Parts: sequence; C-alpha cells; structure tokens
Amino acid sequence: MSEPPADPPADPEDPIDAQVARWGLGRVFYLRRGFEIPVGRSVVRARVQVTAHGLYRLQLNGIRVGADELTPGWTDYRHRVEYQTYDVTALVRPGGNALGALLNGGWYAGRVGMDVLRAGNHYGRQPALLARLAVDLDDGSRFVVATDENWREATGPVRSSDLLAGEVWDLRCAVDDWDSPGNPAGRWTPVQIAGADTSTVVATSDEPVRVTQTLPAVAVSPLGPQRWLVDFGQNIAGRVALRIPPDAARRIVTLRHGETLDRGEVYTANLRGAQATDVVIVAPGEGCDFEPLFTQHGFRFVEIDGLPDEPTAADVRARVLHSDMAAAGEFSCSDVDVNQLMANVRWGARGNVVSVPTDCPQRDERLGWTADAQVFAPSASYLADTSAFYRRWLRDVVDGQSPEGSYPDIAPLLLFDRDGAPAWADGGVIVPWVLWKAYGNRRVLVENVAAMRRWVDFVHRHNPDLLWVNRTGNHYGDWLQVGAHTDRDVLATAYFARSTRILADSLSVLEAPDSDRYRDLAVDITAAFTRELLEPDGWIRGHTQTGQLLALAFDLVPADRRSGVFERLVADLESRDVRLTTGFCGVSLLCPVLSRFGRADLAYRLLHDNRYPSWGYSVSHGATTIWERWNGWTEDGGFGPVAMNSFNHYSLGSVAEWVFSGVGGVGQEIGSVGYRDLLIAPQVGGRLSWARTAYNVPHGRVATSWERTDAGLKLDVDIPVGSTATVILPAADGVQVREGGRNLEKRDDVTVVGATPAAIRCRIGSGSFTFSIGGAEHPPRGAA
Ligand code: BGC
Repeated sequence: MSEPPADPPADPEDPIDAQVARWGLGRVFYLRRGFEIPVGRSVVRARVQVTAHGLYRLQLNGIRVGADELTPGWTDYRHRVEYQTYDVTALVRPGGNALGALLNGGWYAGRVGMDVLRAGNHYGRQPALLARLAVDLDDGSRFVVATDENWREATGPVRSSDLLAGEVWDLRCAVDDWDSPGNPAGRWTPVQIAGADTSTVVATSDEPVRVTQTLPAVAVSPLGPQRWLVDFGQNIAGRVALRIPPDAARRIVTLRHGETLDRGEVYTANLRGAQATDVVIVAPGEGCDFEPLFTQHGFRFVEIDGLPDEPTAADVRARVLHSDMAAAGEFSCSDVDVNQLMANVRWGARGNVVSVPTDCPQRDERLGWTADAQVFAPSASYLADTSAFYRRWLRDVVDGQSPEGSYPDIAPLLLFDRDGAPAWADGGVIVPWVLWKAYGNRRVLVENVAAMRRWVDFVHRHNPDLLWVNRTGNHYGDWLQVGAHTDRDVLATAYFARSTRILADSLSVLEAPDSDRYRDLAVDITAAFTRELLEPDGWIRGHTQTGQLLALAFDLVPADRRSGVFERLVADLESRDVRLTTGFCGVSLLCPVLSRFGRADLAYRLLHDNRYPSWGYSVSHGATTIWERWNGWTEDGGFGPVAMNSFNHYSLGSVAEWVFSGVGGVGQEIGSVGYRDLLIAPQVGGRLSWARTAYNVPHGRVATSWERTDAGLKLDVDIPVGSTATVILPAADGVQVREGGRNLEKRDDVTVVGATPAAIRCRIGSGSFTFSIGGAEHPPRGAA
C-alpha cells in the first residue's frame, strides 16, 4: 500500500482530526477495481479468495461479501496469514462489475496489547490487501481479477479505526456507490498493492468471528444535555449499532464504552490505554446507521454524547462479536445464583474468543495468555466445540516457541522476548492434550508433539535436579491468589511433572519412540517433588491450598501419603471457614480435587458461598461475566487495583468444568478419548434439588438430569450411539435402586459391576435410562 494521501487535510481545529491525531488511529482505505464480464456470457461459478495484512471488508457490486468480521483474523503474521474463500456466483454479472474493499491496520499495523508507547506497527506499518476473484463462464473460460496495479484507492466516510481506540466516521467524506460499477465520485488514485509477501498464506481453519447476537438496550437514561447512558444489561465483547436521526446541524456523536458504572458514569479507568470511543460526524440534514467495522469493545454500558433526543430501544443495540463456535454444553439447576454464575462463565468465554483466546476484551491488552487458555480450555470445551479454534491458535503457540525450546507466555507472540513461565508456557502441552481427550483427533498431537518435546527438554536441560527452579521466565506463581503465597518451586515443578507426563502419554498415543524415557522422567520429577517439597505432616512447602491441590490433582505424592495431603487441604479450608485462597492455577483444581477425594460437600460450600472471596461474591454484586480478580470490586475497598482490573476474564470461571463433570456428572473414564467411554457420576449435593446437563460430544449428545424427590433421587441419563458408560449411582447400602421401574438385577441392559457402602457402579450402553434411588417409583420404560 502506498503512503496514504492527506485527504481530507488534517485540521487541528477540527475535533475529529484532533482526535485522530491524538490517538494515532489507523486509516481506513477504500480500494476498488472495476472489471467487465463479456455480455452474452453467463456466470457458472465465481469464487473470491481474500486476505490482508490488516483487516478487510469486501464488497462486490455494492453488496457485502460474506458476514465474517475482523477478517482475516489474528495469527502470528510473521509466520502465517489466513485467507477466506467466498462463493460470489450470485453477485457477479455480465457487463460492468466492481470489487471494492475497506482496509485497516487491525492487529497487523494497529495498536495491540499494552503498547501505549509503540502505538501499533507490530508486524508492519502499511496494511495491504491480497485478493483473487475467479469467474467461470458458461463457455468454459475463466476470468480472473486479482490485486494488481489496476486498483484505485480513495478516502471515504469510515475514516479511521483501531481495535483499542475505536472508529471514526466522517460522513462529510461520503463517496456514493464507491463499490459499484461505473466511475464513482471522489479522488481515486492508483494503489500499489504490496508485492512480495514473506509470510505464508494459508486457508482459514476455524470458525470466523461473527455477530452472533444482538442485544436491545435494557435502560436508557439522561446524563446531561444531549448525553445518554445506555445499559445493555450484559458485559460483552462487541460494538454498538446506533441509528442517528437527521438533524439540521452538523453533529458529532461520541460513544464511550465501559464495563460498569462509577457514581452513575461509565467507568473507564480500567481500560488503561484503550480509548474504546467511536465518533460519528454527521453532515447537516443527514442521519445515519452507525456500526463500526474494524473495532471491538468490551462493555455493558455506552455513553452517547451529541444526540438531542433520547434514543429508543430500536435506535441503539449491542452487537455481540466472537469466533462463532457451535454451542456444546448446557447446564441448569434449581439455584439461581449457580445458574447466574454459569451464565457469567459462558459470557466470559464468549467475550474472550475473538479470533484467538484472549485474557480480556476491554483494556489495552486482549492477548492470548497461555495460562488463561490452559486453565479454561476444559471448561471452554464443555461450553462450545473448541476443536478448530484452539487447534488454529496452537500453531501460534508453536510459532512463538524460542529457538531454545521455550513456549511463550502469550500467543500470537508479541511484546515479550523472554522464557515462558510455569503454568503459562505449559499451555503449549496441556491444550493439545485437552483437545485430544475431548475430541479424540490425533492430528492435534501430531501437530504439537515435537514442540512439546522441545519444551520438556528445555526445562529439563536447565533443571537437571528436576526441581524447576531455573529459567522460569516471568514466574507469576499462582496468579491473583488471595491471602496466600504458593511456593513458586512447587508450582513450577508440579507443572514440569504434568507436562512431562502428558508428553509421554502423547508419544505413546502416537506410538512414537521415547514414550518410556519421558514416563521415567516424569516418575523422577514426581519423586523429586515428594522428596523436596512434601513435608512429613502432609503439607506441601508453602502451606497453601494451591500447593496441596497441585500435588493431588497432578498425582505428585505416593498413594499412601495422599490422604495426609488432602487432610491438610481440608484443614486449611476449614481454618478459613471454608473460603478459598486460590488464584488462576489453583482454582481450576479446587472443586475437582475436593470431589475426587470424597468432599463434594466442601466443593458445594465454595460454589454456594457469596462472601468475599468467592464466585458468588461477584454474582451477588451484579456481575454478568467472570471478574479477573476476586477483589475486582469489594464493599470495603471499592474498585480493585485500576492498573489491572478487568470485569471480563474467564480464568476464574474454570469451575465450569466441575459443574459439568461433577454436578452434572458428565465426564469420561480416565483412558477414554472423545467421550467414547463415559463416566456418569453426578455429585448430588449442596442447595440443589435438581440439575440438568447436556453436552454434544463428537458423535452425539450426552444428557443427565437428576432430581431429589421426597422418596429419594431420580436420575435420567442419555447415552449416544457410539458410547458406553459407567454410571456411579449414589445409593447407600440397602437402598432400593431401579431403572425403568424395575430392580437392577432384572435389567439386562444395566450391569452392576461394583458397589461400595455409598454407591453402586454399573455399566450401560447407548440409550435413555431412568434410575430411581430410594424407592421413587417411575413407570417402566415403554409403559404408558
Ligand atoms: C493478564 C492475565 C495474564 C497475566 C500474566 C495479565 O495482565 O490479564 O490474564 O495471565 O497478565 O500474569
């Protein structure tokens, strides 16, 4: 792309120009190319392949091509840029045609992350478009239009845009029909489309970002003359669509976005350097339908300045934007707070899957932090089909690996040139394994195993004594724990063991050599952990909940000492009146470990707690997403540290994994992949009288529904064709257990394979089953 012509000229007196200059917003280029299809021929097929260094939106004969947003998406552009393909057969016609594109710097040349000083240009300064339209005609000929010297560029009303700063429209620069055949008005100058491209262009491989939902305003209230506060009732990642009515005067309308309110005004202090402000300048006598194209904000509230009349609900709407993965899991139960928590987790997930998994969608960060991704990946995979999304992102993780073998803290890698930290860098090993377990596709291991091995070798090489104490990068420990300091060697060594074990398991799945060597290494790391970090009385060095959890969840202590380690965990919880101290890493292990060792009652107490710190605390204070920190806002201290206080981070929402697998009881046996061999083990407890869970596994739908009745417990289970299941029925010794109204012994499709004083274990195949425990009577299957 050539240097942009200074059109319209920057006027320091003009508020819009001043704003553009102050924030360094990236220009939006209008590009077009007219072409002729021979008259008399008809179009059999037309396909366009398109990508950009930056973000593009394609138009053909005045009509938008596709409905994807923020294309071509964010990848590590130094290694790879993705292209999209659209079928445009219906849009091309004999005679004159025009291909148009809007182009902006986006992640490529705009501002990304905490780069106030750098102001963009992470990959290059100039955005560029690469497109190829192939039109097949009925005489067998093919007509091709590609990006070449025949394109023209101009300036139009969408003047500038930036993912962090916002978008500016100046309707004084309107260029009518710029994307239609003919000679549009405006100054169209030849454009130099960037020639040699050093990065690889590959087909897009996951679901595009799309507008997936439109939310109406739930409240509009005046803030002052021409100033309105709009509440959408939900914190989202997306943008606002606003109808601006015509008006006699020239009007500048400003939209400032924020996640919450402070004394009745939109709170923006936590956005740091992200201005999150859109501006529309409307010519006298004109109105417009505004909706930004190349920016995205994290918000629940928007302050609109410059509208004389209150916007109606139809005038102002919030558009939810994220990678459009298919929903997979559903959960509901009898407790409204737990339902709200799960809604918050889901919204937190939706707000943080915008092309790559991000930490947050609102402030000047929005980066692919690898620990956030690995702790949340199991929960995310219950909520949606993440298989393509994470698999694509893992290529960026591998591309970010250092020559020495260290995975990065963030992917796509930007800003940092340092070793990855424990639990962060390990995401490069853990996420492929989560995908393999959830979807059973070996490809993900094939694609990642070499990098996994380089990573484990890197840590091992620098830590021959097997405690991971060297080359720990920017060791974050158990990030954002409260009132506890988990020993960093404990956390690092635990992850070293876990990554090594996953590597050994991956190699054995792939029947690759060296699996035994890494399994032995994992055993040795585990022995070192026990020797150096497990104290005689069952405490793990540092004496924190997270330390105990890591040891138990990652199986780092000998079987005969596990109960001691677990007792210390319970003692710690009880000494705090059952309150958690865990940060990002520990929290994902908390409820699963309590359940696994027989104290689901404590997991439920934590789930139902609404005192600080707890999940319920944010719920009871009106949260609609998961907060970054337990103390995002507290009654005592107000807003948490402003330098880092997002209200839409998903990490602490990793409890969803336990809600699905524990409360709902939808999980799989240890050796199973792709949910072929299910483990249906609902933890009936807490305040819940019923819970319903459904989950789309790769080959069908698993569902459980349990309800406590006066007589006992009723449990409905649906197992898809292609799966078998072990069901753990919480039936105490001597309690009557039936399926389909008949005693279990009388059923040939239910095989009892074991029993303890508290539970019966049975095996079933696919189908629908209704178990009753404790005498609840239900009609036999097939009966009226
Ligand atoms: C991010 C986190 C991330 C962390 C690293 C923060 O600024 O928001 O989610 O994992 O930095 O400690």
